[in-house]
Amino acid sequence: MADRQKIIIDTDPGQDDAVAILLALASPELDVLGITAVAGNVPLKLTEKNARKICELAGKPETKVFAGAIRPLARTLVTAEEVHGQTGLNGPDLPEPKMKLQEQYAVDFIVETLMKEDAHTVTLCPLGPLTDIALALIREPKIAKRIKQIVLMGGGFFEGGNVTPSAEFNIYVDPQAADVVLHSGVPIVMMPLDVTHKALTKATRVEKFRKLGTRVGIATAQMLEFFERFDEQKYGSDGGPLHDPCVIAYLLKPELFSGRECNVAVETGSELTMGMTVIDWWGVTKRPKNALVMRDIDHDGFFDLLVERLGRL
Ligand code: BDR
Ligand code: CA
Repeated sequence: MADRQKIIIDTDPGQDDAVAILLALASPELDVLGITAVAGNVPLKLTEKNARKICELAGKPETKVFAGAIRPLARTLVTAEEVHGQTGLNGPDLPEPKMKLQEQYAVDFIVETLMKEDAHTVTLCPLGPLTDIALALIREPKIAKRIKQIVLMGGGFFEGGNVTPSAEFNIYVDPQAADVVLHSGVPIVMMPLDVTHKALTKATRVEKFRKLGTRVGIATAQMLEFFERFDEQKYGSDGGPLHDPCVIAYLLKPELFSGRECNVAVETGSELTMGMTVIDWWGVTKRPKNALVMRDIDHDGFFDLLVERLGRL
């Protein structure tokens, strides 16, 4: 096999984050150097614990999990218990994790890893607010030229927002951090709501996870059933959007996705549109292209990949 892709997953689990972590840990093409937890869907104490619960569920307790930022750069933390439940991982009954949290601060781990590994070999995969990534870029600006790419879930344009009419949750929670990342010069691939809203969990798909008959398969079905109820009510859809696994799926099978290079700017001033990602899809400004923005997904191929990979755990 070709060299494994080295990745760091920065995450705020969250059921969809959990499925993304399971997909990464199940995939031999990926070398998960560490998982860094950030405050987002629920406070940091829960996101770092949830990350460890998922590593244990995957049977990979040797995975290194670090705790990062407790709050956004400039704003008060907004959480999403109404979507993910009080624990952030409502649905399955997962045991308290036995594996220890690493002592190093997540931001230091990100910087140290990028300075130590060969340049352009480590991909960052942010699945939550961009606070840890922005802090790392501020702490050691040299990492910008060493990161291979940042593949992130966040933003929305044609679909609008999901937490306000114009903003998607991850960007809304820490718009200043998103602004730092978008201005970093690092190659960025963005999975906005425009693509994730086409990756719906649907009852038939959830059943495929359950039919794996494994702990991972059954727990995934239980997580998705809890997670999807909120968006099913909101959008009147069969299933909810499975956002974060799109990031990991892109690393494994980029051909599942299509999009275009655009300028992306984020609103950090107006309360009305705070955290809106202004995506110049039609190229009407002269602003430089700073992200590959995805808009379409082969959703059957995506779910086939997920079921096949989670079936390996
Ligand atoms: C994003 O927000 C969170 O609730 C999900 O985990 C995902 O990362 C979708 O807007
Ligand atoms: Ca997330």
